[in-house]
Amino acid sequence: MVSFTNLFTAGLVATSALAAPTQIKRTTSSKRGAAYNDISTVSPLSSTGVVSWAYNWAGTLSGSLPSNVEFIPMLWGTRDFGGWLTTIETVLSSGSNYILGFNEPDMASQANMSPSDAANYYLQYITPYSGKAKLISPAVTSSTDAGVGLSWLESFMSSCADCSITGLAVHWYGSTADEFKSFVTQAISTASDYNLSELWITEFALSADANGSADLATTTAFLNEVIPWLDSQAGVTRYSYFMCAENYLLSNDALNEAGEAYTAST
Ligand code: BGC
Repeated sequence: MVSFTNLFTAGLVATSALAAPTQIKRTTSSKRGAAYNDISTVSPLSSTGVVSWAYNWAGTLSGSLPSNVEFIPMLWGTRDFGGWLTTIETVLSSGSNYILGFNEPDMASQANMSPSDAANYYLQYITPYSGKAKLISPAVTSSTDAGVGLSWLESFMSSCADCSITGLAVHWYGSTADEFKSFVTQAISTASDYNLSELWITEFALSADANGSADLATTTAFLNEVIPWLDSQAGVTRYSYFMCAENYLLSNDALNEAGEAYTAST
């Protein structure tokens, strides 16, 4: 494939395209997404046409996505506030339809915010774009400890009643498909408590696979069970497995057995 840099050097890419690369609108209604750090990994994942969106925990793509894959920007946390206004306006004008809120603000090692601070930041940095995009809440962990997970999200939603949020986001790491379904069912019910029709699961995996698939057969069996179930849940609107990367859904730059399970039609 001709690289973007070569096209640019050859003068084939206009400067305006660099500022706001136009994304081709997604044509599939699939809920499935690609959570990536390295944008080159998305192409093998989207090859079967089932993956319709992608995010990278950031406000900009860092390269180009395959056509029909919608980029969804995220404001990760306070570390990304500088430059956010320029970043988000550029990406929204290029075709993104949603904004994701902070990443695991209920964890000290991630965005690390109190629900009320997060609500103030959300109002300041994300709510102003409610006319241009749909707004998704910060993504919380699946911890059931006091004040974190869904309970953090409930406190946040009480403080953020004027934030124009249209959907909730959660993460899940655990041991079994049944445990996953039970957590997601609880999160769907939390979303409906706030009259929100969208629930996004922007990270999920068996805990054993958090650093890459520990055992591909186990990962594949888990995905074969949960993907059709997620697609059958009306309350779940988007999800992305953790993650679109080598040793997770890819091996040697191609879909492995788990990647094939993740991209199979349901
Ligand atoms: C981090 C992101 C990172 C991603 C994938 C997340 O837990 O918050 O910054 O890009 O993991 O490694």
